[in-house]
Amino acid sequence: MTNKQGKRSRNASAAPRSGTNPKSTAAGVVGLGLMGKSIATCLLAAGHRVVGVDKSLPHPRDTRRHVLAFLREMKREGLLSRDPHAVAENLVLSEDFSSLGGCAIVIESVVENLEVKQQVLAKIEEAVSADTLIGSNTSALPVTELQRKAKRPERILGIHWAEPAHITRFMEIICGDQTDPASAARVSELARRWKKEPTLVRRDVRGFITNRIMYAMLREAFHLVEAGYATVADVDRSVRNDFGYWTTLAGPFRFMDLTGIPAYAAVMRDLLPDLDCGKEVPKLMRDVVASGARGVSNAQGFYRYTPAQARRWEKQFLKFTYEIRALAYKYRERPGD
Ligand SMILES: NC(=O)c1ccc[n+]([C@@H]2O[C@H](COP(=O)([O-])OP(=O)(O)OC[C@H]3O[C@@H](n4cnc5c(N)ncnc54)[C@H](O)[C@@H]3O)[C@@H](O)[C@H]2O)c1
Repeated sequence: MTNKQGKRSRNASAAPRSGTNPKSTAAGVVGLGLMGKSIATCLLAAGHRVVGVDKSLPHPRDTRRHVLAFLREMKREGLLSRDPHAVAENLVLSEDFSSLGGCAIVIESVVENLEVKQQVLAKIEEAVSADTLIGSNTSALPVTELQRKAKRPERILGIHWAEPAHITRFMEIICGDQTDPASAARVSELARRWKKEPTLVRRDVRGFITNRIMYAMLREAFHLVEAGYATVADVDRSVRNDFGYWTTLAGPFRFMDLTGIPAYAAVMRDLLPDLDCGKEVPKLMRDVVASGARGVSNAQGFYRYTPAQARRWEKQFLKFTYEIRALAYKYRERPGD
């Protein structure tokens, strides 16, 4: 286990474990890739001592620097009151799963592959105590499948975050067939302390809520472009200016309440049979992936970017994420609404 200076540090199993108060609770994150780092940042900012485990941490100082940069950014944006350096001291990095021993909750965020996730969950179970909650940040794997080989499946559940996890208020808590509702209740309580606005998915369904809805929209977007009805840019512009403006205030059902329900029923009758129901990955998507495009991260995507334009989009995305978070918070759901 390495600390900031790359030296051996106090074992995480010495960390106290009491209830769900972040101030006295160690939390584990397994897989410190894109999401794992921002999840660890969120947990640190909430006051946890965080044990980060990855199968390979060749440059732990880089991981620590990355997390510290997120914490400083949170401080600048008013989302963290304490000194970011002091908060980052509560991060312990390790390649050894036994470091997770004292954690009250462990979240895995390794690659989206059922077998790998099942193996990782088994290793976590080996390391932690019987009442440790275990969450999987899977995007779409059924939680019931992840529970299949577990020793104590009742404490395993999906905890679906949205990137960047230290800023977004989204969190879906998903029960698999064997999840104990009490485990979901404990995670919901924690989620509120992490400053999330959690939703509970009571029965396991592939893709959960937002990914099912988002992928239905993506399928139709590809259909409109591939069939020649509109360009990529025109589809984007329409979506941004229509759903893009109201979805932070109202979900689909509230939006229908706000804008008159019967008209939607009339449109559904004629439009639903006409929507795309394809079951294959769209050809345009396959071609773009085969070309090596990964989006702004390598300046190749559905649009062309110079490296400077790609960086500008990344910065804008981050700035917008903080601003929309503030707006969403201002218009958050309140009891009695
Ligand atoms: N990227 C997103 O926007 C996003 C959003 C929601 C959910 N997710 C989900 O989060 C998970 C992680 O996604 P990501 O984008 O951070 O991936 P990533 O590839 O950036 O990171 C995965 C990390 O897991 C580590 N890892 C792989 N196998 C491991 C093992 N056996 N033991 C320990 N560590 C291991 C890798 O070394 C890597 O650091 C996936 O399940 C993904 O579907 C991602």
